Amino acid sequence: MKRREFLALSSVAALCIVTGCGGGNSSVSSAGIKLKPLPIPELLTPTDKLGVKHYDLTVQEATHDFFNGIATHTFAINSTYLGPTLLIQNGDTVSINYKNTLNEEISMHGHGMHLPPSMDGTAHQPIVPGETWSATYTVNQKACTNWYHPHTMNKTAEHVYKGLAGLIIIEDSESQKLDLPKRYGIDDIPLVLQDRNFNNGQIDYDPSMMDIMHGYKGNTFIANGAIEPTLDVENKEIRFRILNGSNSSIYELGFSDGRTFKQIATDNAFLEAPVEMTKLILSPAERAEIVVDFSTSLNQKIVFKEFRENKTFVTVNVSKSATVTTMLPNSLTKLTKLAPSTAVRTRSFVLSGMMGSFEINGKSMDINHIDENVPLNDVEIWEITNDMMVDHNFHIHATHFMIIERNGGTANVAPNEKGYKDVVYIPANESVKFIVKMEDYSDNTVPYMYHCHFLEHEDAGMMGQFIVTA
Ligand code: C2O
Ligand code: CU
Ligand code: CU
Repeated sequence: MKRREFLALSSVAALCIVTGCGGGNSSVSSAGIKLKPLPIPELLTPTDKLGVKHYDLTVQEATHDFFNGIATHTFAINSTYLGPTLLIQNGDTVSINYKNTLNEEISMHGHGMHLPPSMDGTAHQPIVPGETWSATYTVNQKACTNWYHPHTMNKTAEHVYKGLAGLIIIEDSESQKLDLPKRYGIDDIPLVLQDRNFNNGQIDYDPSMMDIMHGYKGNTFIANGAIEPTLDVENKEIRFRILNGSNSSIYELGFSDGRTFKQIATDNAFLEAPVEMTKLILSPAERAEIVVDFSTSLNQKIVFKEFRENKTFVTVNVSKSATVTTMLPNSLTKLTKLAPSTAVRTRSFVLSGMMGSFEINGKSMDINHIDENVPLNDVEIWEITNDMMVDHNFHIHATHFMIIERNGGTANVAPNEKGYKDVVYIPANESVKFIVKMEDYSDNTVPYMYHCHFLEHEDAGMMGQFIVTA
């Protein structure tokens, strides 16, 4: 047993003496922690100033109660772990104001947001201690579930690990009309899924060389900042907006009774039609919205779990009678599909590396180097090849793409991936092609970034920068 695990287990044993928790009791987690209800991140109400919706976020040090009575030191946003959910209407002009009260520099990125490079929140827009930085732009994209998180040079992984992340929900006229579960926290449930290592109840971010290579994986599974929490729901359709908020874990998600559910949205939009499935694979930073029908499950307990590590994320208690009903439509939206024949060029990106150093096209991230120039409005195909024996994914800022091939075959693209994406999972030694077009924003000096979203890999150099030229 590794030292970290030993200490984590012994601290749990000590807790059990204090709280008297026993094994095999369904009101305690697999690690012996008394179960809490799933925390629902607060919906942050913006203040309207001259037609601009201001969302005020304070990035702060805090202590959070993971282990019933232990004060775990965290970083958080307006809370004690993670941050509030920003609910934005498409078309709104927003100012997302991040105040940095930490003792170190950060940057805060709007992942999945279609915005100008100067508002992207990368290390090109640092926020020094004591300062406030604002991302101001008019939202112009389809309804989806995005998120915000640090993008600090070489420190993104640690900053996210300590608790900095939150959801951004975009609604539009289409999403409001669809007969979907829409009651936030009641039948429209945000789920930020993570895994963490703890040492004596404290967050333990201490990856070894090996952990950096394979991804730093935690042995404690948490949802919205609680260890294996419970959720009471009505016996009706329930929508989950799921974010893989882990640093480097692939989650294979589903229900303990093997029930089917329907995926209705990918990273950046609804799918055109719901896709029925029993297992959902999400790599770090990917989002999926699913709808599960619990109408005939009254008084049942179903575990929403992760199958690769066989861990519980949330125990769902269908304990309440439905007060309203919804009926998932067969058709959700219309997506713009760029034809590969209209692409004017193909760019190739090879992900490679060895212990301690990660590269894209043979180069490690250099903030002073622009790796690609992408002309505005050109349709392009990007081909990403994972040249390593370990898994990666690939994320592009400011826009979405559509996956057109996996390993050279169009038939290898799964039905639930045929939507707008900004992260694509690329297992070891596999390749992916996607089609993309940069629209609306160009800037001759400030770049966007693309990178592997396994945060240990990103921090170790698997990232590049591109300029969008007019
Ligand atoms: Cu989610 Cu470059 O980030
Ligand atoms: Cu991003
Ligand atoms: Cu990677």
